[in-house]
Parts: sequence; C-alpha cells; structure tokens
Amino acid sequence: MGRTLARKIISLMKKKNGTSTSSFGTNGRENHNSTKFYTSRLYEGIDLDNSINQNENPLPEHIINRMICSSAEHMKELPDNSIHLMITSPPYNVSKEYDEDLSLSEYLNMLQKVFEETYRVLVTGGRACINIANLGRKPYIPLSDYISRMMIEIGYNMRGEIIWNKSASAGSSTAWGSWMSASNPTLRDVHEYILIFSKGDYKRNLKKKEKEYKKNTISRDNFMAWTKSIWEMNTESAKKIGHPAPFPVELPRRLIELYSFTNDIILDPFMGSGTTALAALKLERNFVGYDVSEEYIQLAQKRIAIHLNQIKFI
Ligand SMILES: C[S@@+](CC[C@H](N)C(=O)[O-])C[C@H]1O[C@@H](n2cnc3c(N)ncnc32)[C@H](O)[C@@H]1O
Repeated sequence: MGRTLARKIISLMKKKNGTSTSSFGTNGRENHNSTKFYTSRLYEGIDLDNSINQNENPLPEHIINRMICSSAEHMKELPDNSIHLMITSPPYNVSKEYDEDLSLSEYLNMLQKVFEETYRVLVTGGRACINIANLGRKPYIPLSDYISRMMIEIGYNMRGEIIWNKSASAGSSTAWGSWMSASNPTLRDVHEYILIFSKGDYKRNLKKKEKEYKKNTISRDNFMAWTKSIWEMNTESAKKIGHPAPFPVELPRRLIELYSFTNDIILDPFMGSGTTALAALKLERNFVGYDVSEEYIQLAQKRIAIHLNQIKFI
C-alpha cells in the first residue's frame, strides 16, 4: 500500500473513532470524545441548570436602540429574557471623572446588582462579556478573579477568558519598582481581560422562523483568529473620544460577531461613549444601553450620528 493511501486511511479512522482524553500528556483533538473528562469527579455537581425559563420576551419598541439615563442596578425598562448578548466595561472606581470612590466591597456589591439584573434580562443561552483590568500593586487587586467568582455564584456558566494584549499601543510605563534589582521589581500590566459567560445553555438554539432573519456575519479567517484566547488590539484615545475610558470599537465588534446573530439585541449597562452601540448598529444588530451620566449619553448619541457611516470593519 502506498504511503499516502496509508496516511489517508489512518486519518479517516481517527476521524471516525475520534480522539479521547489522554491519560498521559496532551494529545491532538480530532472529532474529540470528551465524555471521560466531563464525567470525572472534577465536574461533580457542576451541571447545566435546566429549570431556566426557555421563553424569550420581546423588547418594547420604544427602547430598541435607546440609551437610558439611569443606574443599571435596576434595569426596570427591560423585560426578563429579552437580551441576547451583554458587552460591557464597568467603571473602575479609580477616581476617573465618573467614579464614586466606593470601598472595594461597595464597588463589588454595585457590580453584583448589575450582573444579577443582566442575568434576569438575558435569554437562555444568552452571553455576557466583561472587559476588566486588575488594579494596583500593594497589593494587586485581582478584579477579574473576583468578578469571575461573582458571576459563577450568580448562576452564569463561564465559557472562558480572553487576554487582551495591549502592548502594541500601551504607553511605556516606567513604574518598574526597583530598577534591575530583585529588591522590589514591579510588573507592568500590558493586558486586560474579557470574561465570557452564558446564562444556562452554552448553545443558542434558533427557532425555524428566526433562522430566516438571524444570520451569522463572521468570516472564516476572523473566526479562526478570534476563537484563540489572546487578542491583540490597540487601545482607544480618551482625548479623541471625549470619554475617560472608552474601549476600541474593535472589542465589541469581535464579541458581537462571535456571540450573536443579526437582529439580536445587545445590552451595555455601562454604555459610556456608546462604543458597543456603534458596533451593534454597524453589524445589523440592535442595542439598548444605560449610563448614569446625561453628558455621556449625549456624547454617545453624537458619536453614532457622526461616525456610524465612517466605520469600516475588515
Ligand atoms: C468604563 S466606562 C464605559 C466606557 C465604554 N465602554 C466606552 O467605550 O465608552 C463606565 C461607564 O459607566 C458609567 N456608570 C457608572 N456607574 C454606573 C451605574 N451604576 N449604572 C450605569 N452606568 C454607570 C460611567 O458614567 C461610565 O461612563
């Protein structure tokens, strides 16, 4: 038998039988059967909650593509099970213009209320994506860790985390502690996190009728690149946008294309300058957003009116 034919047969057999969890080292993954892994004791007691209401409720027409000036701790305008994807970057409580100087536990309580509300309004299978950076050095405050635990306690299923590598555009911090000495060298973060969760099922199941108007928009190359857990993206200039902490439009753009279909509803409970709204409209999704600042809501509306047609995604 020729070598090429033998290789083809082995590859076909692998596909048919698939790989399974290896008891020694890591192996390749093809048509992988993960039953052994998910039935191990590590996963004991971690089950999908099948008691969640599967019905979706429509968002009232008058709040589709609207920003609401109010705290997202109570999103009373939004019905239960009406949002498909939440993308946000919370206030950092680090004395930015809009920050309130809350204690760490007051701050985490505020976030908990917002993410409990988000859980209520997400549809089953809906996703929540939180962009967050860790803070300080003495000691380092691992907000990403606190928030992941909080989300799991609320009932979300964690899907993974993305490391946003900002090094290409991050300013060169010189806060290295003790220069070239082991006395007290300090790490200089050039990354942030994007934590990803689902409410209930990991899978979004579209009904037959929905398949007619809910479509995927992601390209093959982007799917291959963005399903990897490290993303390189430039930061956005606060000065240029006129908001103290905007994220780049590329961030919600990638999450929207990965985790939602056209005509879905995207929520940002901390809307700021409206970056999530811009990306949603550009990608034929709808949005709803909250911010406590009337000034930022006006800025967001102006940004959408002026820039929507100028954005080009590749
Ligand atoms: C980090 S910024 C969001 C920036 C946004 N991603 C952008 O690209 O412009 C956080 C925003 O949350 C708003 N905010 C703070 N507390 C809030 C609350 N309880 N409810 C809603 N918005 C709040 C602030 O006014 C601020 O604009």
